[in-house]
Amino acid sequence: MTTSAIDLHELLRAFSERFGDAEGVRCFFAPGRVNLIGEHTDYNGGYVFPAALTFGTYALVKPRNDGMYRFRSMQFAAEADVAVSAVEFRKEDDWANYPKGVLAELLKLEDGAYASKLRGADILYVGNVPNGAGLSSSASIELATALAISTLAQIELPMLTLVKLSQLAENRFVGVNCGIMDQFAVGMGKRDHAVMLKCDTLDYQYVPFRIDGCKLVITNTNKRRGLADSKYNERRQQCEDGVQLLKEKLPRLGNLGELSLEQWEQVKSAISDPIIRNRAEHVVTEDDRVLRARSSLEQGDLATFGKLMNASHESLRDLYEVTGFELDTLYEVASGIKGCVGTRMTGAGFGGCNVSIVKDEAVETFQRTVAEQYTAKTGLVPSFYVCEIGDGAKELQL
Ligand code: GLA
Repeated sequence: MTTSAIDLHELLRAFSERFGDAEGVRCFFAPGRVNLIGEHTDYNGGYVFPAALTFGTYALVKPRNDGMYRFRSMQFAAEADVAVSAVEFRKEDDWANYPKGVLAELLKLEDGAYASKLRGADILYVGNVPNGAGLSSSASIELATALAISTLAQIELPMLTLVKLSQLAENRFVGVNCGIMDQFAVGMGKRDHAVMLKCDTLDYQYVPFRIDGCKLVITNTNKRRGLADSKYNERRQQCEDGVQLLKEKLPRLGNLGELSLEQWEQVKSAISDPIIRNRAEHVVTEDDRVLRARSSLEQGDLATFGKLMNASHESLRDLYEVTGFELDTLYEVASGIKGCVGTRMTGAGFGGCNVSIVKDEAVETFQRTVAEQYTAKTGLVPSFYVCEIGDGAKELQL
């Protein structure tokens, strides 16, 4: 996929080609997201600071009355026709397992209270979130689906419910043990704002994303994220192991996100395994960086914000070990460029994207220099997206 603009009229034509009459079709949109800082903290109950992007997934939808949901994509070949009575994971359904998972969770919601309203729909998707790049293309499919299906069925659910059930779809149906950050940012994002979220209480705050004189630049390593899911689950487990060990000193500790830096210094000797200790140290220090990043953004102190981004990358590289050659190469090249205020990996890691704040006048040089040096070192050609921050999931008027 590319981030080029989507032509909704073209999409309507494509809908009629696949499903017949497009009369009465409605259109829903859910964005991708970028995380500014606060990585691998969400499933530890810590802080994250993501923002919704202006590119995302569009879903054209028309109701049916026979209990069948038919999922089609303009980009992917796999198609799925699913009866509400038999929503099951099937590997060959590929991307369509995301909308199927959302449907499965909607059917189960509140002990099946809404099941009789779910009478079927034809849905056609098209997206411009780069796929598999760690910008939450899957969460954007989930939220577009959750909003489309629930709205069509006249089930009025708060966005937060759609966010939670989309995460459950991914955890229980697709089998990826992700935290809440992606679905929250995609559902609840707000134009020109970053979302400060505490992931155990779900307390959140919108912080104006003012980076006057600068641009937000995402650089895609274009490296496939092989093995990412198994390494992701391994990191989660290591954090849980860390909590168990720390309970020797803090019996009531529930998650690493509850620890302040000072507390951590006092109790960290309870973890003798250096790998587990490093993982936990990343989480505790990253949480502290998110809080400082929020203050610096509020004060318009971009220089400090940028330094915190760099420190976050280094911690993810040295303590959490989720960066890898390509992301580290991007970091080294980008951080050496004059006019690059801050730069780091974003998302789960192991490939995917880097996010940088770059002074307006340096954006061109940044792209040229990063591309040259990154390609020389890795043999891969990066992609760049100079981004705006957009709204969370919503219906669009056709
Ligand atoms: C992925 C997951 C998120 C979060 C990040 C790392 O994007 O889906 O829940 O854990 O990795 O911060």
